[in-house]
Amino acid sequence: MKIMVINGPNLNMLGIREPDIYGRVTYKDLCNIIENHCKEKGVEVEIYQSNHEGDLVDKIQSTYNVFDGIVINPGAYTHTSIAILDAVKAVAVPTVEVHISDVDSREPFRAVSYVRLACETVISGRGIAGYTDAIDYLLQMEKK
Ligand code: DQA
Repeated sequence: MKIMVINGPNLNMLGIREPDIYGRVTYKDLCNIIENHCKEKGVEVEIYQSNHEGDLVDKIQSTYNVFDGIVINPGAYTHTSIAILDAVKAVAVPTVEVHISDVDSREPFRAVSYVRLACETVISGRGIAGYTDAIDYLLQMEKK
């Protein structure tokens, strides 16, 4: 199984940005955690981060007919981007939406998600563990 993990704007600032909300784990730590988890589970993984909406759309499009699953934390684009929603719909690759924080218990605008409409499930408020949970979810889906 081949999984693409995509992180949107400001997630490269993990460990630095608002540690009371997002914790002290850095983006590099996150990549290591994902890579180790995937190695253990025999999953091939590519990890990508961008602060630019169009680049995120290009990366989603690149999964078409190549990847079996997407794990995406679109950051603030979650709450605004129809382009990211349309890209996930276009490739029709099973996708899990992840948020480190519990978006539903924060400002009301964070409870809105466009990409959710194209996702198999949402994992929110589990911290960094949300990413490995999302990978496991896609693995379980593939077995069914
Ligand atoms: C986030 C939540 C978003 O509202 C925010 O804009 C982020 C991170 C999360 O992982 O909790 O950048 O997606």
